[in-house]
Amino acid sequence: MSQALDEIKIGGLGASRRRVEDNRFIRGKGNYTDDVVLPGMLHMEILRSPLAHARIKSIDASKAWDIPGVHLVLTGEMMATRNLAWMPTLSYDTQAVLATDKVRFQGQEVACVIADDPYIAKDACDAIDVEYEPLPPIVNPMQAVAEGAPIIRDDKENQADNIIYNWEVGDAEGTDRAFAQADVISKLHLHYPRSHPSPIECCGSIADFNRSTSKLTVYMTTQAPHIIRAAVALVAELPEHMIRIISPDIGGGFGNKVPVYPGYVCSILASILLERPVKWIEDKSGNLISTGFARDVYLDGELALRSDGKILAMRMHTEADHGAFFADAQPSKFKIGLMHSTFACYDIPVAHLTARGTYTNKAPGGVAYRCSFRVTEAMFFQERMVHAAANDLGMDQAEFRRINFVRDDDFPHRTPLGFLTDSGQYGECLDVGLQAVGYEDFLRQKEEAKANGRLLGIGISTMTEPLGAGNSREYDILGIKMFDSAELRVHMTGKALLRTGARGQGQGHETTWAQIVAHELGIPAEDVTVEEGDTDTAPFGMGTYASRSTPVAGAAIAMVCRKIRAKSRKLAAHLLEVSEEDIDWELGRFYVRSAPDRGVTIQECAMAAYSNMPDGMEPGLENNAYYDPPNLTWPFACYIVTVEVDPQTGVWDVLNMVAVDDCGVRINPMIVEGQIMGGLTEAYAMANMQFITFDAEGNCVGSNYMDYLLPTSWETPGFELHAEVMTPCPHHPIGAKGIGECAAVGGPAAFVNAVMDAIKDTGVRNIDMPLLPDRVWEAITQRHDVSGAPPVHTDD
Ligand code: CDP
Repeated sequence: MSQALDEIKIGGLGASRRRVEDNRFIRGKGNYTDDVVLPGMLHMEILRSPLAHARIKSIDASKAWDIPGVHLVLTGEMMATRNLAWMPTLSYDTQAVLATDKVRFQGQEVACVIADDPYIAKDACDAIDVEYEPLPPIVNPMQAVAEGAPIIRDDKENQADNIIYNWEVGDAEGTDRAFAQADVISKLHLHYPRSHPSPIECCGSIADFNRSTSKLTVYMTTQAPHIIRAAVALVAELPEHMIRIISPDIGGGFGNKVPVYPGYVCSILASILLERPVKWIEDKSGNLISTGFARDVYLDGELALRSDGKILAMRMHTEADHGAFFADAQPSKFKIGLMHSTFACYDIPVAHLTARGTYTNKAPGGVAYRCSFRVTEAMFFQERMVHAAANDLGMDQAEFRRINFVRDDDFPHRTPLGFLTDSGQYGECLDVGLQAVGYEDFLRQKEEAKANGRLLGIGISTMTEPLGAGNSREYDILGIKMFDSAELRVHMTGKALLRTGARGQGQGHETTWAQIVAHELGIPAEDVTVEEGDTDTAPFGMGTYASRSTPVAGAAIAMVCRKIRAKSRKLAAHLLEVSEEDIDWELGRFYVRSAPDRGVTIQECAMAAYSNMPDGMEPGLENNAYYDPPNLTWPFACYIVTVEVDPQTGVWDVLNMVAVDDCGVRINPMIVEGQIMGGLTEAYAMANMQFITFDAEGNCVGSNYMDYLLPTSWETPGFELHAEVMTPCPHHPIGAKGIGECAAVGGPAAFVNAVMDAIKDTGVRNIDMPLLPDRVWEAITQRHDVSGAPPVHTDD
């Protein structure tokens, strides 16, 4: 009789195990960067530019130097003497560390003061006298490419305009031919506004250079510690093995903590110069104004349609506003991230995408805010275009999607823009969603409400998105291939230590990674300690963003467990005195096939690895695995929202929201639900309230929490989650697909589509996010589209 362990009881796959990290978080015992205090530590503050575009005529820091308690004032000029005034970005551009010639966005770093405490440092920043000569600011891509526009990056040789790249993918001629055959052409123009990840903990670093050992230790809020180590080694020309990056607990990342920021570089240089630890902790306004923004992309989209509802072709042009430096952390091959994953769930014969990136006088953008490198924009554009197209054909929204979905038996499926999707049950997910929301009933209620002057609307958003970059053939950042790693040590008593190259920021890795070990080896999850984030101990990895941890690091964990199991099998054969071929595995135990009662547990094998190994076997039970995924994983989601819009005020309320997510095998269903709820909350915030933009002078409007609203539980609507559909990933060792970002990616279009549906009779095609009451009210009363693009300065 089987003596296999009960997988759920030992906290394996499918167990809704409570998050182990919460033991310290809810007791206030988390260890964040700002909690780190080192002996002799100094504090750094940054002086930021008040202007968006200006030439620096002079910087006089003499008064700052005179303030007691000030140890160092860094300016661009001083950085230049060490060749550190500029640094390379993750997208092969350069970025000013401290400005020398010009400031190029409001909030740009101009000087740093290092002092005994942060207050002295701040006062000393205020004492620095900077003389600026204002230049005309550029706040959107259209202005950037207009004739006579001032050149923002005049520091770059051969940069004769503000264009960073022109990029295209797909079949332009085939798309033109298909458009010529169309019965209807549906067009949409819109702007996905700039948005800010806004983690509760801002960015920061504590650099500690020890002259006696020549070792540099940096505690910092990074999602990708090994990439930072490589960047420091290359930029500061320090030996990589003498650099230790420690990423302690992170209070939210959302992509904001992937880039390399000037503050990191300055604190490191200051520590080297002063030979004392130097702490820099960014304040909220600094974070909102100057760290990596997301989105800010314009769409001109067209669908060629047959009158029966079939999409014949898709054409899309996007204009991406990258701010003053092209600093996106994204695979180098894809200039506009994975924008070309758009329309992957629809069976479209041909498509063409063009993209242009421009410099503007804003902080560098392009952060993948809870998103795989522009997938959020891709899916938003897709679902807004699909919504408009169904309306243009006079078709039902659900039916139009169903007609065009890739069918379940049509996998693997090559998308017209080049991806290979491998699995999914799109129609089934849609059916579950429609059933849950009571679709037909709602359509009836909507008509009845209309007769009483009430505006009800329903919005659908369905999408599959690529999660888990690499593979290493196509995906690299600055030439470093995208794979990931895991290292497992099983101690002699059967307890284990697991380390990965990922770095969680609240996603529950310490909980779920142990569950994969429990599933693969039968070691109870509670017997496995998980560590991430210290480059001196963790194996090399590309870090955690773009929901790549489960698809890549999670797979590496399964693979290293399998190596451990293979060695344990040899130990079991030795202990049971049979040949390896004669034994079988069940969860937690090897047994003799012909005598199943004779067996040894994984813990007994572990003990034998240190005390009773066969002759010739290397002692110990530990190993590592580097995993290069064969493909991305492709989760699918269907989000449906119902709303009521008040025609008098433009205020809209969510009546119901249903989410059906198919992310393959769920390691921990409770954590997956938490990820979805968090993502939907952010989606709601983007659609409804998060307003951060720029005025014509390039001032960042919304750089505080009075304007840039974060939803609390009071504002956030309830969400109904469904997990009925589960399509395992065919190439992932445990069948899992990523989930972390799905709801934030697919959610916004569902909210916007619902409001647009409610006001459909006005003929308005688009209101740009956030759908603030005044914008909705303007659309209803003026009957025109409402743009959220930053205004351009005019002389009148
Ligand atoms: O890269 P990131 O951790 O942000 O995203 P993810 O890989 O989608 O994982 C987010 C969290 O959900 C992790 O704790 C995963 O282990 C968990 N998860 C899961 O339990 N089952 C899945 N199929 C996918 C993720």
